[in-house]
Amino acid sequence: MPSIGLIKTAFREWITRERSPRLPEPDLIMDDAEQVASYVRAGLEDGVMAPVYLFHCANICEVIRPGDTVLDLACGPANQLAMVARLNPGTQFVGVDLSEPMLEQAGARVAHQQLRNVTFQHGDITSLSAYPNASVDAVISTMALHHLPDEHALKRAFAEVARVLRPGGGVYLVDFGHLKAERSILYFAHQYQDRQPELFTRDYLNSLRAAFAPQDFRRAAEPLLPHAHVYATFFMPFMVAIKSPARQSRNLALTAQLKKLRDALPPWHQTDFRHLSALFRLGGLDCSLLR
Ligand SMILES: C[S@@+](CC[C@H](N)C(=O)[O-])C[C@H]1O[C@@H](n2cnc3c(N)ncnc32)[C@H](O)[C@@H]1O
Repeated sequence: MPSIGLIKTAFREWITRERSPRLPEPDLIMDDAEQVASYVRAGLEDGVMAPVYLFHCANICEVIRPGDTVLDLACGPANQLAMVARLNPGTQFVGVDLSEPMLEQAGARVAHQQLRNVTFQHGDITSLSAYPNASVDAVISTMALHHLPDEHALKRAFAEVARVLRPGGGVYLVDFGHLKAERSILYFAHQYQDRQPELFTRDYLNSLRAAFAPQDFRRAAEPLLPHAHVYATFFMPFMVAIKSPARQSRNLALTAQLKKLRDALPPWHQTDFRHLSALFRLGGLDCSLLR
């Protein structure tokens, strides 16, 4: 059962005339040591972001295949990337980020987990000049696009995705979506403040304020359509995903591993996972690997 706060937020978003302005992130490139450390902690597999990472992991697994080369745009400390790479040992991943401290954390994480299918590249996701046209099988990105300064940069990033992707390649690009009312933004930012460091709550608030609206995603994603579709969480577009059709759906071993990870989450994370899945399903995004 959704909480009263969530129901009130949905109702507010439905009736409000407010249009809160997009405020770009104060730190576009995350290279402050304390900020990096707090983000790494929240992304640990028992951290506050665990259900969100697992949900995106299942969706990513659906659009990639063994033998693929996959780019993860703005991979940060590889919270998401390490989880996906561990479940897909036959796929090669390259994490791209502009922050050296993030890439150091990412390198340490994959070394600690002895993952041999991940490399990293220091680079700008709005200019993937190291990659020729149609040279990668799939492109993924999680919770990072709001770090781009404006819609022009978002358009450049998506144009680069369309350029480097092989025909019929996999796409899963997901990020926060901009809510209409500042009070709704504050609700989400402070929802779990007692479970996370204060710095993470502040960062999360900045992220929600910097998020692009679903219509910004739709405009910028044009070069990727109609191969991929834009989905948003129902009623409250606090998350938006651009996903191509599934490239693997009946992988029973992968399904079993994903379900095991989900069942190992503590009860409050399982509730969050169910809410996120339900809100995305109502918005049209389904994941056959977790059915
Ligand atoms: C919030 S983190 C997301 C990390 C990761 N994708 C995850 O899901 O945990 C955002 C990352 O985007 C990176 N970033 C921001 N602008 C970038 C750009 N133009 N090119 C590459 N990386 C960028 C930041 O340095 C930071 O590591």
